[in-house]
Amino acid sequence: HDLNQPYRTGYHFQPPKNWMNDPNGPMIYKGIYHIFYQYNPYGAVWDERIVWGHSTSLDLVNWTPQPPAFNPSQPSDINGCWSGSVTILPNNTPVILYTGIDQNKSQVQNVAVPVNITDPFLKEWSKPTLNPLITTPNGIKPDRFRDPTTAWLGHDGEWRVIVGSSTDDRRGLAILYKSKDFLKWTQSVKPLHYQDLTGMWECPDFFPVSITGSEVVDTSLVSEVKYVLKVSLIETLHDYYTIGSYDYEKDVYVPDLGFVQNGSAPRLDYGKFYASKTFFDDVKKRRILWGWVNESSPAKDDIEKGWSGLQSFPRKIWLDESGKELLQWPIEEIETLRGSQVNWHNRVLKAESSLQVHGVTATQADVDVTFKVKDLEKADVIEPSWTDPQKICSQGVSSVKSGLGPFGLMVLASNDMEESTLVYFRIFKSNDTNTNTKYVVLMCSDQSRSSLNEENDKATFGAFMAIDPSHQTVSLRTLIDHSIVESYGGGGKVCITSRVYPKLAIGENANLFVFNKGTQSVDVLSLSAWSLKSAQINEESMPPFIE
Ligand code: FRU
Repeated sequence: HDLNQPYRTGYHFQPPKNWMNDPNGPMIYKGIYHIFYQYNPYGAVWDERIVWGHSTSLDLVNWTPQPPAFNPSQPSDINGCWSGSVTILPNNTPVILYTGIDQNKSQVQNVAVPVNITDPFLKEWSKPTLNPLITTPNGIKPDRFRDPTTAWLGHDGEWRVIVGSSTDDRRGLAILYKSKDFLKWTQSVKPLHYQDLTGMWECPDFFPVSITGSEVVDTSLVSEVKYVLKVSLIETLHDYYTIGSYDYEKDVYVPDLGFVQNGSAPRLDYGKFYASKTFFDDVKKRRILWGWVNESSPAKDDIEKGWSGLQSFPRKIWLDESGKELLQWPIEEIETLRGSQVNWHNRVLKAESSLQVHGVTATQADVDVTFKVKDLEKADVIEPSWTDPQKICSQGVSSVKSGLGPFGLMVLASNDMEESTLVYFRIFKSNDTNTNTKYVVLMCSDQSRSSLNEENDKATFGAFMAIDPSHQTVSLRTLIDHSIVESYGGGGKVCITSRVYPKLAIGENANLFVFNKGTQSVDVLSLSAWSLKSAQINEESMPPFIE
């Protein structure tokens, strides 16, 4: 690892330099994974005239850089090639639908197709002159119409696609278009879905999930499925999802719980994670999620280090047995990076104590720990006003009274513990007599002491986790990678990703602990931690891997 670049990652996707935002058009095609991304070839800040960066992989872990798939080049995208998606047509040709910023700076939807379908890397893409395929509809401002999804075929054999939008009065929309030939698109009278007072919907994603297990769901319309609609809200910069059904007759999506329930919908990630997108991996029969994880540093630091933006580690995503929430988990290929390993069983973590995890590289690791909490009676009743988990987490580890917790992982801790990032749980008794949930489990990621550099955004993140600690263990998997800490609570019920920029806790001077700052002891049922080797990610010198 380059000591002048302590924040570059070992196994999280990033270009060699410059700015990156949204993942675009992820797919697997003829056994090769592709990721495209919003890329500014000219510097480490966002620019409207953004292009489609491109990389390919055989395992979703090691990535070969490809030339940008396309740049602004025709009237319909001359001011920028913005986000979009891939659809693989029934004749097995992948096509891209993306947003162009046209000569009038209006957002329009364009198509791009591979120049040479026999090139396994699909290096070159061309844009038919019939672009744009779709122009801004009536009643929609030209700067609020973007990010087409992967298209899907309806029962009537026609294609459908949605485009994110909003009205002047902040109604968020997934505008629906239909087409017989993928080129001529007609706006449907009704949007697929909409919700008042949510503002602009960026990067919508609409996909089926199996209600019978995590396997075998492609984009065709089969019966044993529910549908997920995910939108990225520009007003909060978070990705929200709902689970529901798709009414094939009316061509509308009907969420089970309403889009915004009590002022909030569940999120794919409660930290830094935006503009995410899934694709179906038909080889391994799984759906995979990518999300953009931006910097928490000031732009001047990004310019100085010469880059900005990461992608989350690819996550498998599926519907929980309850049918009520999505679960996410790092794809299994991460195991190919595992090096030295530490295993613990049945250790007691006494009140107000910590245990150091020796033997793994603390800056680049995969940690999986399971806690069992006894004495649940000792938990304090949660204050009735504590309805916002992020706010509770933001009060810090020491100031909240609670017998149970905080307990969890202390990562990227400097030798004297001046710097550290805390990923932890607290357990409260519920004050809600209407439900039969007796306990409230809170998960936090606290960056407030992660760096001596005070200029970074060190906001704390938090979420409630729907488990019952009287029957279930409390588990945490955390991926640590220099400046990113990606955590999965409860087997993937709650994800929290954060960015940190330690000054001291870098290289050999970073440490890993399990801690318990509560007044009751907690059992570490098991802990496995692995050093992770660096993946080969967009290294210019990489040899071609297809003979
Ligand atoms: C989301 C987004 C998209 C847009 C792209 C532009 O981060 O604003 O709505 O297409 O980024 O780079």
